[in-house]
Amino acid sequence: MMEWLVAPGPASVELANTVGKKLDAKLLDVEVRVFPDGESVINVVGEVTNKRVLLLQSLYPPVDTHLIQALMLSHRLSQDGAEVYVAMPYLGYARQDKEFVQGEIVSVGVIARLLRAVGVKRLVTVDIHSIEGLGHFSFPTFSLSAFPLLAEYVKKNYRLERAVAASPDLGGSARIEAFARVLGIEHFVLKKSRDRKTGDVTVEGESIPELDGKDVIFVDDIISTGTSICRGAEVLKKSNPRSLYAVCTHPLLVDGALDRLYEVGIKEVIGTNTIPGPISKIDVAPLYSEYFSSVD
Ligand code: R5P
Repeated sequence: MMEWLVAPGPASVELANTVGKKLDAKLLDVEVRVFPDGESVINVVGEVTNKRVLLLQSLYPPVDTHLIQALMLSHRLSQDGAEVYVAMPYLGYARQDKEFVQGEIVSVGVIARLLRAVGVKRLVTVDIHSIEGLGHFSFPTFSLSAFPLLAEYVKKNYRLERAVAASPDLGGSARIEAFARVLGIEHFVLKKSRDRKTGDVTVEGESIPELDGKDVIFVDDIISTGTSICRGAEVLKKSNPRSLYAVCTHPLLVDGALDRLYEVGIKEVIGTNTIPGPISKIDVAPLYSEYFSSVD
């Protein structure tokens, strides 16, 4: 197996430790201080010249701080002669992958240029919002999928009866298929629309299958404010399901999202540790260690 050094970015220290152990890699010493004005100062200790370094840093809030820290770290490591591979388990800014409204900046394209400028050789994320987002990068990229792991968790831990998986929107079609396949259950997709200016979400109650007495599992890549799933739950509750669950890869859970999900009747919410937090029960470290142990 190829020898790795691991640089734990401040947003992903625990994950970096686990991945480092699995890869039998030495961890670099990364010291970070954030000044009262928000600026970061970073020290990296360790010899990296001509070495392969895996830098782990997820881009959850504070997104811009975590982004600049990743850029600083990669810049330093590549200047010191390392080959820098970056793992960004949650790739912030990836939802803005096209100019939805005239004049909007395609943020993921900016991220791609910045990462290239600081010498990144390859980027590996988990469940990027849409695979088209990777088309903005001019160097190799890969998106791992946590949905089989989420499905395995559900299989082991929930006592479901006549379960059915629901995607809050059409963009989640491939994700829900991957999830439902592992569980061998049916799935359907709700029709969600978002006002691109105000951000308001509407979910339509058309083409919902028979749900009476069934357990419904919402499946999404990101739960941010929880609005998409809450609106979906309000619509589905009219069809009398036995229970509602929600699983996602990236539990951003901003603005009291978790409380709102419970209030609307979601029995349990789970996510992965691409974003650490109280419901981040699924560990994505095995996905990363498997991927990087086979890089030649
Ligand atoms: C959007 O298309 C994504 O797949 C998620 O559905 C969305 O980001 C969730 O955001 P929120 O929880 O704020 O509705």
